[in-house]
Amino acid sequence: MSGTILVTGGAGFIGSNFVLRERLEKKRIVNLDLLTYAGNLLNLHELNDDPDYIFVKGDIGDPSLVGKLLDDYQPEAVVNFAAESHVDRSIESPESFVQTNIVGTYKLLEETLGYFRRLPAGRAERFRFLHVSTDEVYGSLGPSDPAFTENTPYAPNSPYSASKAGSDHLVRAYHHTFGLPALITNCSNNYGPRQFPEKLIPLTLLNALEGRPLPVYGDGLNIRDWLYVEDHCRALSLVLEKGKPGQTYNIGGSCEKTNIEIVKTLCALLDEIAPQSPHVPHSSLITFVKDRPGHDRRYAVDCSRLERELGWRAKETFETGLGKTIRWYMENTQWVQSVKSGAYRNWIARQYGE
Ligand code: NAD
Ligand code: DAU
Repeated sequence: MSGTILVTGGAGFIGSNFVLRERLEKKRIVNLDLLTYAGNLLNLHELNDDPDYIFVKGDIGDPSLVGKLLDDYQPEAVVNFAAESHVDRSIESPESFVQTNIVGTYKLLEETLGYFRRLPAGRAERFRFLHVSTDEVYGSLGPSDPAFTENTPYAPNSPYSASKAGSDHLVRAYHHTFGLPALITNCSNNYGPRQFPEKLIPLTLLNALEGRPLPVYGDGLNIRDWLYVEDHCRALSLVLEKGKPGQTYNIGGSCEKTNIEIVKTLCALLDEIAPQSPHVPHSSLITFVKDRPGHDRRYAVDCSRLERELGWRAKETFETGLGKTIRWYMENTQWVQSVKSGAYRNWIARQYGE
């Protein structure tokens, strides 16, 4: 065993992919997760009998629990994935976003700072707090604007991105004022295995397989930059290992696509994979629906600092990553059934009026 990481939100999409990766690297993992609707223990079922994986159900905003975990397990790093992460839910009901993303991160920072100050000098020098954030804090780009750099001013537009921006500012302040060795990463849209099907790619995929409408907001021409989740997790490991405390690193796929392009690509791939499906051509299921309020038009990420300073490159192309993603959802039917609970159906009914 080569050190312990306290991961928060490790039962969610990106967190679970990160935990699996770090176990392969022989890190002991303590996973603190509240198991909201987005957290799923099935994501990590393969670690059920692993003595170096410890799951704890709880809130990052619970100081006594967080303090105890830090004291008991003596981690060399805290990696904070825990968050409310879906923009549409933040529009319907912002409160839990403020509570977890801002207040929760503040409480986690406070406990971590106390622990950091109690560490002996050698271990304090190696300790890291890595805060996993989003490109959405930078706001929206025009068609010919340059991509977001780490120096782009913050201009969050949704309650989600505003709450993530608030948490980023707190992390920055805990480094600047108190000397906590913290790093922030701002990543673009992830896709891949274990993503909850409220997000565009898994929602489209699962709806298409069932012959349900494929909702595209507005004119479908909003642009996102897409990155395969394992490439994101590899970047996080590098930042943890080699990143400079106090620094921010942008992470992105250099893969800008309109939403309609994404949905049409998925439809075409499914036509090939399942030519006998009664839903071929799947593109006939595309349905334009009312736009998301305040919908950011374009995101694009300049991740040259990460490439130059830490030697990171994305390994998957959009084609290879999407292929892996489709196969994972088609093979993991038990996972798919488990997430389609009553609560999920209620969300879909409220959001899309079905
Ligand atoms: P997710 O919604 O799939 O998972 C979030 C996890 O956090 C869940 O397991 C949930 O149970 C847990 N959680 C929520 N509130 C908690 C609390 N108070 N205490 C402990 N655990 C709590 O999210 P994701 O897509 O995996 O995103 C993870 C992080 O990465 C988030 O901080 C998000 O802002 C950021 N991010 C996501 C993307 C993306 O495309 N999904 C891109 C960039 C950054
Ligand atoms: O940019 C990083 C962010 O990417 C992360 O910080 C967020 O946690 C993550 O959820 C994601 O945010 P988006 O809002 O970009 O992702 P979402 O999958 O919800 O939507 C992607 C695009 O697709 C967006 O322009 C809205 C559109 N969309 C989404 C859904 C769910 C549709 O057209 N129809 C839909 O049904």
